[in-house]
Amino acid sequence: MSKLTTVPNSAPFAPEQIQALNNVIGNVSVVQRAWLSGFLAGLDAAEAKPAVPAAAPTEKPKLTILYATESGNAEALAAQVRQDAAKRGFAPKVLDMGDATLDQLKGAGTILAIVSTWGDGEPPQRAAPFFRAFMGDAAPRLEGVKFAVLALGDSSYAQFCETGKQVDARFAALGAIRAAYRVDLDLDYEAPAKTWISTTLEKLAPKDAGSVIHVDFHKTAATEVASKTSPFAAEIIAHHKLTSERADSETYHVELSLAGSGITYEPGDSLGIVPENDPALVSQIIAKLGISPDPELTEALTSRYDITTLTAKQLKDYAVITKDDALNALADDAAKRSEYLAGRQIIDLLETFPHNIDPEAFTSLLRPLAARYYSIASSQKSVPDEAHLTIARVAYESAGRTRKGVASSLVADRRKTGGLLDVFVKPNQHFRLPKDAAAPIVMIGAGTGVAPYRSFLQEREATGATGKNWLIFGHRHFLYDFLYQLEMQSWLKSGLLSRLDLASSRDQPEKRYVQHVLWEQRDALRNQLAKGATLYLCGDAKHMAHDVDATLQRIFADGKDAAAGQAALDALITAGRYKKDVY
Ligand SMILES: Cc1cc2nc3c(=O)[nH]c(=O)nc-3n(C[C@H](O)[C@H](O)[C@H](O)COP(=O)(O)OP(=O)(O)OC[C@H]3O[C@@H](n4cnc5c(N)ncnc54)[C@H](O)[C@@H]3O)c2cc1C
Ligand SMILES: Cc1cc2nc3c(=O)[nH]c(=O)nc-3n(C[C@H](O)[C@H](O)[C@H](O)COP(=O)(O)O)c2cc1C
Repeated sequence: MSKLTTVPNSAPFAPEQIQALNNVIGNVSVVQRAWLSGFLAGLDAAEAKPAVPAAAPTEKPKLTILYATESGNAEALAAQVRQDAAKRGFAPKVLDMGDATLDQLKGAGTILAIVSTWGDGEPPQRAAPFFRAFMGDAAPRLEGVKFAVLALGDSSYAQFCETGKQVDARFAALGAIRAAYRVDLDLDYEAPAKTWISTTLEKLAPKDAGSVIHVDFHKTAATEVASKTSPFAAEIIAHHKLTSERADSETYHVELSLAGSGITYEPGDSLGIVPENDPALVSQIIAKLGISPDPELTEALTSRYDITTLTAKQLKDYAVITKDDALNALADDAAKRSEYLAGRQIIDLLETFPHNIDPEAFTSLLRPLAARYYSIASSQKSVPDEAHLTIARVAYESAGRTRKGVASSLVADRRKTGGLLDVFVKPNQHFRLPKDAAAPIVMIGAGTGVAPYRSFLQEREATGATGKNWLIFGHRHFLYDFLYQLEMQSWLKSGLLSRLDLASSRDQPEKRYVQHVLWEQRDALRNQLAKGATLYLCGDAKHMAHDVDATLQRIFADGKDAAAGQAALDALITAGRYKKDVY
């Protein structure tokens, strides 16, 4: 299809009008053009309203959009559904699973649930209390309720979209009627989610709701500062290692200039980095494919595709493309397939099952390269044109190879001061300082989990907030990886940090972690909570978050059973006074 970029002379306008239109259209971006076309369609639709008396109002069907989110993707989709549903004649209501109660389900009408999975197949943390109740014996029967589930996940995790799957099955088990099949979406969820939303709403919409005008006012050029698809190239203005040579791992402090970007952020937000793959791995893959290096393929494998994971789907797709019997057998055997996938990447697949396939067939196997997120470790009240990050290098051995984390090794090895990083802000409304500047906070974290606390402390210092700030920080060795040691000690001296407890796990024969400090200091913790403190947890999700939760549960049980402790912890989460940012 050829692109029409000017208004033709045959258009129903005077020559000077055509000239004026061409002056405008010739200079607008694709986004501006899309906005304009939606705007004109909206004007027409508004003007075309029939001048007949309004019909007696009929009650709009209820639609509840129930979402469970950690980093905001499901929440953003829920907002899209609400907008679309309102135009289609529903009375939509958005409900965060973090605030929802089971009682709200019965009268919810049709429920569209948008649910992400975190940890290792777990619900997002704020949604966990609702999720536990929903899966439990006390959940109400839901006969008469219609539902549909959109699950978000990452297919490189063994428990792909597990929470969405469980929510879907539970609605059905409670007697609700499935209005549309569940879809399980990967990191490139945006386009398929849009299709699912419109087809599902189309199917459920009241038939007399009239036509729908699709105008995406969110995506206008005027409001877009920097995004995943249009990041800002930020210059690195400082880059140094925070850990000593003797530490077991490396962590870097990176300062980025946001000057001229218009980017703003709040303490608790993360910065997305749009990374590039390691050129050495790109070359190895091209060599394994047996094709001569070509710039287009090199560019695509460097910046567009994920080349460091391996999913069950990729194994199956490669088996289909190559017609390899051994691979087919492996792809069909769930146990052997999982065993093979563990710790392997796409390069291992090419090595175990070598075939000459063309570049298009190969790239058709690959997922898009995903952004990586880093908690912002600064406050714009203190450094207005900068964002600071605390990045730990990911490096490990698996299946006989040395592996490097895509974004962290880019930052650690290949982007130094003066280099550029493509970035955008990912807001996190659920990890904010308390509105009350006098309220105490207790910050628990380990390793890079200290990053948002540096931002909190800078902010509270710059605003003169009077609330007490208690940091409980875990690391391996006091001498080698006490991140931001000098700053923390000077904040302790100035009184900004009212208390600092360190858990140096390997400085003594017995391991000592943040949960041990919590248990030892349980009376002080209870005391702070009684004074209205908000509790924060940031850092490792796999071990630390579970152990801290178990310890808090034990503290709150106060001699009663575990269920009582969990109920008290859930109440704190629901009240927004236990906030987690774990990864
Ligand atoms: C909201 C949020 C905030 C975050 N904040 C920070 C932060 O402040 N600082 C920070 O450093 N990181 C932070 N992270 C983590 C960060 O986003 C990246 O996940 C991390 O840097 C790894 O990215 P990468 O591209 O270097 O590694 P990737 O290429 O993504 O590789 C990571 C993967 O490698 C595998 N892997 C890693 N280690 C091992 C091992 N020992 N054995 C086997 N497999 C392994 C795992 O599958 C893991 O998922 C945050 C994450 C989120 C979601
Ligand atoms: C630390 C971490 C753990 C995750 N665990 C899983 C998982 O076990 N299974 C899965 O399918 N997806 C997992 N994901 C992917 C998220 O579900 C996916 O990024 C989703 O789009 C997030 O949506 P949200 O922003 O609404 O929370 C994980 C992501 C992160 C960063």
